[in-house]
Amino acid sequence: MPMETNAVTPKKIAIVTGGSRGIGRSTVESLARHGVNTIFTYHTHGTDAVAVVAAAKDAGAEAIALQLDAGNIASFDLFVESLKDALSKLGATRFDFLVNNAGNNHRNMPFEAATEEEFDSVLKVHFKGVFFLTQKLLPLINDGGRIVNVSTARTRFASPGGAVYASMKGAVEVLSKHLAKELGPRKIAVNVVAPGATETDFSGGIVRDNPGVNKRVAEATALGRAGLPDDIGRMIASLLSEDNRWINAERIEVTGGYV
Ligand SMILES: NC(=O)c1ccc[n+]([C@@H]2O[C@H](COP(=O)([O-])OP(=O)(O)OC[C@H]3O[C@@H](n4cnc5c(N)ncnc54)[C@H](OP(=O)(O)O)[C@@H]3O)[C@@H](O)[C@H]2O)c1
Repeated sequence: MPMETNAVTPKKIAIVTGGSRGIGRSTVESLARHGVNTIFTYHTHGTDAVAVVAAAKDAGAEAIALQLDAGNIASFDLFVESLKDALSKLGATRFDFLVNNAGNNHRNMPFEAATEEEFDSVLKVHFKGVFFLTQKLLPLINDGGRIVNVSTARTRFASPGGAVYASMKGAVEVLSKHLAKELGPRKIAVNVVAPGATETDFSGGIVRDNPGVNKRVAEATALGRAGLPDDIGRMIASLLSEDNRWINAERIEVTGGYV
């Protein structure tokens, strides 16, 4: 019979980018309920970040907020140093899960009207940032860890004005497959979560605050409403649980059955 010990298994640690609001916030809070500590990033909404730290604590886990501009690749070395400090506060030198979720508002732009400046701005936050942040963080991820890259349902179908944004998310999806293959020897699983239209502050809160858009989304959704942050965050936390350890190199849509 195995000897019983009082040893406490250390909590897993997740890094979630864009954890101060919306889908990222729900992910941090859901992970906390699963007993996972989180280091999450915010960009400009420091006050929201403080509230998320408190909510994670209430749910029984630690959360630490760090500032990050996901589109400023030159700042990533400094970010890694603050991340190492944050990890040491949690008694760790490495982490288990990386959720690349941060994303900013951008306008829907017809292909013909897209400027190079707008293209580059979406590229930096939604693809280049994901690529190079993951590269920088790779040495700090435990073998056997997991990566979730947040994409969008809009890579599956064409929707007006989505050419730039959806192309960047499409690039993230291709990258994820390559990462899954390359990181297999380290037993790191890499998956894409592709949410449908979700009621957050994203794109000026259009899905939540514009009644016409909200209605159109609800009508095109089999379950009859737009998504809520918890529809996505809870799914991501569950994907990162031990129950889903064999899911790898997949793109999973979380839309309530959209178009
Ligand atoms: N909402 C939707 O309908 C929908 C659908 C499909 C996919 N998605 C994707 O889901 C992800 C999260 O979106 P959301 O709806 O939760 O948006 P949100 O409510 O607007 O939250 C965005 C989060 O990203 C952070 N962020 C914004 N710009 C950043 C930057 N330049 N650098 C670092 N962090 C930055 C924000 O930080 P601050 O709070 O400090 O600003 C915030 O935490 C995005 O990747 C988005 O593309 C959203």
